[in-house]
Amino acid sequence: MTSPVVYWACLVLTVFVSCSDEDEPTLPVNRYEFRVPENFPQPIYTFDNNPVTKAGFDLGKALFYDPILSRDGSASCNNCHIQATAFADSPVHPLSVGVDNRLGIRNAPPLTNMAFFPEFFWDGGVTHLDFVPINAIEADFELDETVENVVAKLNANKKYRDMFRDAFDIEEVTLPYTLYALSQFTNMMVSANSKYDRYIRNEGGSLTALELEGLATFSEKCGACHSGELFTDFSYRNNGLDSTFADTGRNRITALNSDIGKFRVPSLRNVALTAPYMHNARFKTLEEVLDHYDNGMVYYETIDETFVNQNGLGIDLEETDKAAIIAFLNTLTDFDFVQDTLFFRN
Ligand code: HEC
Ligand code: HEC
Repeated sequence: MTSPVVYWACLVLTVFVSCSDEDEPTLPVNRYEFRVPENFPQPIYTFDNNPVTKAGFDLGKALFYDPILSRDGSASCNNCHIQATAFADSPVHPLSVGVDNRLGIRNAPPLTNMAFFPEFFWDGGVTHLDFVPINAIEADFELDETVENVVAKLNANKKYRDMFRDAFDIEEVTLPYTLYALSQFTNMMVSANSKYDRYIRNEGGSLTALELEGLATFSEKCGACHSGELFTDFSYRNNGLDSTFADTGRNRITALNSDIGKFRVPSLRNVALTAPYMHNARFKTLEEVLDHYDNGMVYYETIDETFVNQNGLGIDLEETDKAAIIAFLNTLTDFDFVQDTLFFRN
């Protein structure tokens, strides 16, 4: 056995060095390598253009935690994306809060498994991960800065010029490399080590009878949209939250009436940590979410046909179904991820 001390030292310190002792071969060797979990689909992000390196990841991490990206030096990406909640916002911010405490219009989603996402935001308004930070930097209710100013501030900063040189072999900081670095950091936020994952990959974990019942009920009643190992089919749907819309969702991107009130089906990984729920943070608990699916829906013409049945709107759920589904959803929490020192601020 590798001793715990050596094991943790290896986790924290190794880059390219292999950690082992006589009896056991290797433990995590290169923590900066992007790996696809066995039970996941192939990533969508094109790593050929922007392979993850230690220097690029460290630069992305420094930028993510640095308020230099904001107009007045008061806010960073980390203001709204916090590791303890799987890089979603803290529950004290149902809607995101930017510089000057300006209120956003939506709940900040978790940033896990971004490399596997085809589109970003609740309405799919950004189609490539590299472009997401431009929105975050320039939105007046987020960092309220221009990308030109950010690049100028980074160029004027010796620490950053050195870090960009190490990461990308460039003498002058540019926007594309700033975005590449941020993507390297977010791409590494792969969360695939929940109790459910260990069960599904046959790594010795098992689920309780209640959790298994929840998994079966979930697959039957929720799996049409929250499908696959990321628990989303990445489609845009109306799940009956409202009958009038200040935020029209997918319609803001496509301008189609048939998209009014549709929002992206969210991934449910780490969902127990990411309250409140829905794009507008409507529900505080998973119990409230299930009550909504059972009997809280309201009609608007784009409501998903899955929810329209003879008994009215929604998905029929007994109280026992709800308890089982929640027990199952709790197995999607990846405690290793939220405690992973790799993502700690330096
Ligand atoms: C003021 C709060 C705030 C700040 C600061 C912020 N974000 Fe976000 N982030 C959000 C919100 C809210 C959304 C969802 C936006 C939407 O759906 O319109 C989001 C979405 C995202 C997404 C897409 C997630 C998904 O599931 O589609 C990524 C990636 C992301 N942010 C990364 C970043 C990075 C990198 C930074 C720093 C450059 C940053 N964010 C700064 C609030 C914030
Ligand atoms: C017809 C598609 C569909 C079905 C079926 C469905 N959902 Fe959803 N779900 C969605 C959409 C779309 C959203 C986001 C809606 C929004 O924010 O406006 C969502 C949001 C959620 C959220 C909030 C997640 C977050 O991060 O805010 C949870 C939890 C959830 N669903 C659980 C379930 C459960 C449990 C079931 C089965 C009882 C289920 N869903 C069935 C489409 C569906």
